Amino acid sequence: MQQTAGTIVWNEHQMEDVWLLTIEVPRIAQRIKPGQFVQVKVNNLLDPFLRRPFSLYRTFRDEGKLQLLYKVVGKGTRLMTTLKEGTSIDLIGPLGRGFTLPHHAEKIAVVGRGIGTAPLVALADEASNKGVEVYCFLSAEEKHKLVGLKEFKEMGCELYLHADTEDNVKMVTDYLKKLLPATQFDGVYVCGSKRLTREVHNLSKKYGFMSQVSLEQIMACGHGDCHGCVVELYQDKERSKKCYKRVCKEGPVFETWEVVGVYA
Ligand SMILES: Cc1cc2nc3c(=O)[nH]c(=O)nc-3n(C[C@H](O)[C@H](O)[C@H](O)COP(=O)(O)OP(=O)(O)OC[C@H]3O[C@@H](n4cnc5c(N)ncnc54)[C@H](O)[C@@H]3O)c2cc1C
Ligand code: FES
Repeated sequence: MQQTAGTIVWNEHQMEDVWLLTIEVPRIAQRIKPGQFVQVKVNNLLDPFLRRPFSLYRTFRDEGKLQLLYKVVGKGTRLMTTLKEGTSIDLIGPLGRGFTLPHHAEKIAVVGRGIGTAPLVALADEASNKGVEVYCFLSAEEKHKLVGLKEFKEMGCELYLHADTEDNVKMVTDYLKKLLPATQFDGVYVCGSKRLTREVHNLSKKYGFMSQVSLEQIMACGHGDCHGCVVELYQDKERSKKCYKRVCKEGPVFETWEVVGVYA
């Protein structure tokens, strides 16, 4: 973990309330892993006082650059839209525990909803670079709000899409359900929806694959000191005992069995 000044390369409006921030920051870009995050100081003032956490979206290690995909929801993210190309930005990272991609993995699936898809793009990128086949199950309120489509297509992922406006009864995991009896995944990774997390977990119990979820929790320090991000989770796979864990330190990525039934 390092506090570092980066340089803003681009801050581009993508769609509706979603922006893509490209930062040149070799010290973080060369070390950060999918599922890990950075704490962003959105301006040089004392207000807002707290940094804002964002997951790695993509990294270009050779160029020392990383990208964050952010949705404008409040004061901090609104201020981020005013960040100008060529100016400096203060970051802390890499933070947290990222996704686990098994060494032997041949095929994985990512299940994302809305802006929650952001860290799954980083994972799909790493996996496809290692020759792992990636199936993407993406959902959003409306089709034009699906996140990461262009990137997943460029990586050659197999895509399954679902928008609530087209059918609010079905879920994107219905496609996964159909594939599962005949298709073996070495890991399924979910982010952005408690409902999808429960579905993925139930399927993981039935078919025996590893499943992980990236959690979002309001954070202060982001590196384990303040205990502001603690959540109650299951301690053991039998789920007989509960414990408390810091999302910023022991997470944000957890096994779905730790989470489903208490947090999701
Ligand atoms: C590990 C992690 C990774 C994240 N990755 C992304 C990402 O890749 N893209 C993205 O758009 N968003 C991501 N988020 C959510 C993002 O941090 C919040 O949307 C952002 O902090 C909101 O700040 P704000 O000032 O605009 O909103 P405000 O509501 O004004 O924020 C007030 C306070 O609440 C906190 N807060 C508000 N919403 C959230 C939230 N959903 N999660 C955590 N803290 C929140 C803020 O950090 C701030 O301290 C992530 C959150 C976490 C914990
Ligand atoms: S945010 Fe401080 S311990 Fe997690």
